[in-house]
Amino acid sequence: MPPFVFVGGGLLLLMKEVILLRKVFVTALVLVLAVASCSFADGVKIGSCIYRFNDAFMLRFRNAMTAESEKLGAEISMSDGQDDQNIQNGQIEEFLSSDVNVLIVNPVDRMSSQGIIDKVKAANIPVVFINREPTPEMLATYDKAYYVGAKAEESGTEAGNLIADYFKSHPEADKNHDGKLQFVLLRGQNGHQDMILRSKYSVEAIRNAGIEPVEVAGAIANWDKVQAMNIMNAFIMSIGPENIEAVIANNDEMALGAIEALKANDYNKGDPAMYIPVVGVDANASALDAMTRGEMLGTVLNDADGQGSAAVKLAVMLAEGKDVSGEVTDGKYIWVPYQKVTRGESK
Ligand code: BGC
Ligand code: CA
Repeated sequence: MPPFVFVGGGLLLLMKEVILLRKVFVTALVLVLAVASCSFADGVKIGSCIYRFNDAFMLRFRNAMTAESEKLGAEISMSDGQDDQNIQNGQIEEFLSSDVNVLIVNPVDRMSSQGIIDKVKAANIPVVFINREPTPEMLATYDKAYYVGAKAEESGTEAGNLIADYFKSHPEADKNHDGKLQFVLLRGQNGHQDMILRSKYSVEAIRNAGIEPVEVAGAIANWDKVQAMNIMNAFIMSIGPENIEAVIANNDEMALGAIEALKANDYNKGDPAMYIPVVGVDANASALDAMTRGEMLGTVLNDADGQGSAAVKLAVMLAEGKDVSGEVTDGKYIWVPYQKVTRGESK
């Protein structure tokens, strides 16, 4: 059948036939759209609670979730917990009383996850936790509770290895020539698994590399650049920059805050005699820029794209009542690996 009609030309189709043809075509089109929408998560509504919008890493994470939802044809709405568990609890209740089919939750305080699980369970809605890990005991209390994240110990080990490698290949980095590594540790928010495990494993990696680590100063800077800058300034004043041989920060924002403080004291501005290696975690664009400028030694890629898209894919499958056993490990988890990033590389 020709897809066109010559009226008054060599080939003439009766109007009746044209109408019939259109009907067939429209029916086929409707069918095609219906099939497409089935596999494209049409109608799935995701409610997502983020601990705080104003967090550089969570911004990457949010963008990845939005992109994956668009790709799958699901609808996603996100709320800003403003770093306050009470505010977030209200937002969870609001989502539960709306028509969302699944929740993705980045808890403000991961130790409050049991209360969240209880609420979500009572509403019989699946929940995917991200970035802030509930304990296995908590996850075990609800068969529709999952976690998508990265193994914090990996990033700690990689960050420690970056410093150890530098120390070994730069003998001048041992400023007081005692064979030990005097470092400052800037920690993330108290109780966060990434704060606990990155701190522990970065120091252990240095020890495992045969270098004795000595923490000359350390503090919690809550993942925050400005807090880290102020703390580092205070450390520089009290200890003296010549007595600091490395800075280990649990994330890039705090590493960048420390670098601001170092630069204000003429360190890390290009003079090799005035340089203190600083490492972070995340591989945010601003950290990669600082590495290109030679201000920052290295970082570890915290794969926001991988975690964001995995969380949305899992949420959509759960909302559609699909079997997810093939997607998860230990019945509950999707782990997205970290990658070491050194100067010059960009990801
Ligand atoms: C990231 C931090 C971020 C935190 C938020 C961590 O995994 O490395 O940059 O602030 O998650 O929970
Ligand atoms: Ca030393």
